[in-house]
Amino acid sequence: MKQTILVTGGTGFIGSHTTVELQQAGYNVVIVDNLSNSKIEVLDGIEKITGVRPAFENVDLRDKEATENVFKKYPAIEGIIHFAASKAVGESVEKPLLYYRNNIVSLINLLELMPQYGVKGIIFSSSCTVYGQPSPENLPVTEAAPIQKALSPYGNTKQINEEIIQDYIHSGAQIKSIILRYFNPIGAHPSAHIGELPNGVPMNLIPYVTQTAIGIRQQLKIFGNDYNTPDGTCIRDYIYVVDLAKAHVAAMGRVLDQETDPVEIFNIGTGTGVSTLEVVEGFERATGVKVNWTYAPRREGDIEKVWGNVDKANNVLGWKADTPLDDVLLSAWKWQEKLREDGVM
Ligand code: NAD
Ligand code: WQD
Repeated sequence: MKQTILVTGGTGFIGSHTTVELQQAGYNVVIVDNLSNSKIEVLDGIEKITGVRPAFENVDLRDKEATENVFKKYPAIEGIIHFAASKAVGESVEKPLLYYRNNIVSLINLLELMPQYGVKGIIFSSSCTVYGQPSPENLPVTEAAPIQKALSPYGNTKQINEEIIQDYIHSGAQIKSIILRYFNPIGAHPSAHIGELPNGVPMNLIPYVTQTAIGIRQQLKIFGNDYNTPDGTCIRDYIYVVDLAKAHVAAMGRVLDQETDPVEIFNIGTGTGVSTLEVVEGFERATGVKVNWTYAPRREGDIEKVWGNVDKANNVLGWKADTPLDDVLLSAWKWQEKLREDGVM
């Protein structure tokens, strides 16, 4: 029988791609999302790809009673993938309490309800932001690298959430968890039926690149060319959102169906560092579209270089990111063109 998975934040960027992969792997999906950073039409995109419209509940996870009603309505839920969170680093500095309440209360509500409703496992969306700037000998960074003091309330919520999960399970709660630390998720489904919907002026590199290429933004600024890296621009580990989505399917199978430690942590990236300049040049190569860009001063708070050691995910989860960067960048461009076609932006 198909297992039922609750995907919180399932109409969001990573949640929608993961819903597609879960459905294609044979799971039933129930999405909970309050649509604070996504649109209901995402369900149409998912249905176009998979032929199945996932169950959807417009619920705010801060509301425990409403969240409990979801478990009552869908008693078959066996696992949770918890994407729902506020994620804008800058906004979190301005509105820390919004971030602490949303990202922490939502998780606590879910954890409290899990044993009560027989839900066995939870996959949690963490971030490489917990590593801060790893020291040179710790690059590529492994899961064992020290956690560094968070640079923003957003980053701090990820650290606190990781601790909450570990403390709860160590206290004897009868649940299991896999914490996935994502590097930089990018791209869109190759069908261009789903993708990323940035709110306002994008802060992240790829949507800024695609919006500049299509003429919504005049010029991309590459923040800093005097870093201690081969071309002077920052280095990141850009992970294709579809590959990332597949890591969740592997993690769900592991947490629900295998005898494992009750809490496990995995880096989810490609294992390769790519510079900002290489991304822009790669985009131009993959799409044949020129990007108007210029060097600008460093962005405050930016990490110089970080990329992941992903051996643990490769070996233990049996998962690997294998989509070439050019294909990933092309998928982001196709999605931007689709948004234009649909008159969204
Ligand atoms: P997203 O904003 O596209 O998706 C999050 C979804 O959660 C949105 O649809 C939003 O409406 C929903 N949501 C937020 N608060 C909610 C609440 N209280 N109740 C119900 N729904 C709520 O973000 P994303 O990029 O898909 O990120 C998913 C997760 O991955 C987040 O936890 C994020 O912190 C984490 N993450 C993202 C990145 C990244 O660069 N995108 C990197 C590392 C980790
Ligand atoms: C990537 C690189 C910029 C925009 C953020 C969050 C982090 C995580 C992922 C969730 C950097 C450069 C960017 C632009 C540029 N999210 N850049 N011009 O900063 O690695 O991480 O998203 O957990 O917490 O902080 O991603 O996409 O913003 O930047 O030159 O207009 O692109 O300087 O080197 P970042 P990003």
